[in-house]
Amino acid sequence: MSAEVALARHGAVAAVGLQRPAKKNALTAAMYEALAEAVGAAEAEREVRAILFHGTPEAFTAGNDLNDFLARPPGGEDAPVFRFLRAVAGAAKPLVAAVNGPAVGIGTTLLLHCDLVYAGEDARFQLPFTRLGLVPEFASTYLLPFIAGYQRAAELLLLGEPFDAARAYDIGFVTRVVPAAQAFDTALDAAQKLAALPAAAVRETKSLLKRAHRAAIDAQLAADSAQFRRMLAEPAAREAFDAFLAKRAPDFRGL
Ligand code: COA
Repeated sequence: MSAEVALARHGAVAAVGLQRPAKKNALTAAMYEALAEAVGAAEAEREVRAILFHGTPEAFTAGNDLNDFLARPPGGEDAPVFRFLRAVAGAAKPLVAAVNGPAVGIGTTLLLHCDLVYAGEDARFQLPFTRLGLVPEFASTYLLPFIAGYQRAAELLLLGEPFDAARAYDIGFVTRVVPAAQAFDTALDAAQKLAALPAAAVRETKSLLKRAHRAAIDAQLAADSAQFRRMLAEPAAREAFDAFLAKRAPDFRGL
């Protein structure tokens, strides 16, 4: 279990915290391993009735750790990152998120799979995949057009520019925007309300909400994971990652 993933229990709510503040909670393979395990355990444990994802006051997550991705690219569909994505997409229990600060890459795409999302006014979202020479992951090319409409999704996914909590709320993947200091408590309160309801009613309602999209999400997730893995090894991604790590602008001429 990684020390950078903090697990806590608040009654019947399992809180899963991203806790690597010096790197804005950027996610390493070891953290994905711990996250996949945490979601699996929470799903299996009868006493847990809701799962809460959160970061630290300074960040939700800066997305994949680009250093770690270069050093340990996900080898196949059984890599920790993909196991985590499948565990979240397939979760039967309700998923709630509290977001403060940057929520980049998977920090945003994870939210598309959550049932309730509470964002602090300080939250900043970004889907920078094309800027990194990659494709969006986690079935976001399916879910975001469904939530936002095609052109708004295309702008966010093709241009990859940052946007604020008000825009995320307007687009529709944030349930409510609250003062930054209240994001965690508001999300925990909602998770505890869900946990106090009859578990079967909540589970079956979530299942019906997701039913029409389940197969499409699974298919898109498999397709984008394979494409993402292929493109990680391409020169454009290498250049983007090298540039980020060297704190310089990338040069995509000829790529
Ligand atoms: N991978 C590896 N390291 C990362 C990281 C990432 N995704 N995101 C941030 N860090 C590191 C920075 O390199 C920096 O390390 P240093 O202190 O050793 O120099 C530290 O975390 C703090 O980040 P910094 O950029 O100084 O913070 P900021 O508040 O100015 O900006 C972000 C925060 C998240 C907007 C910015 O760090 C960023 O854009 N990160 C990359 C996001 C990204 O492309 N993610 C991949 C998605 S697939």
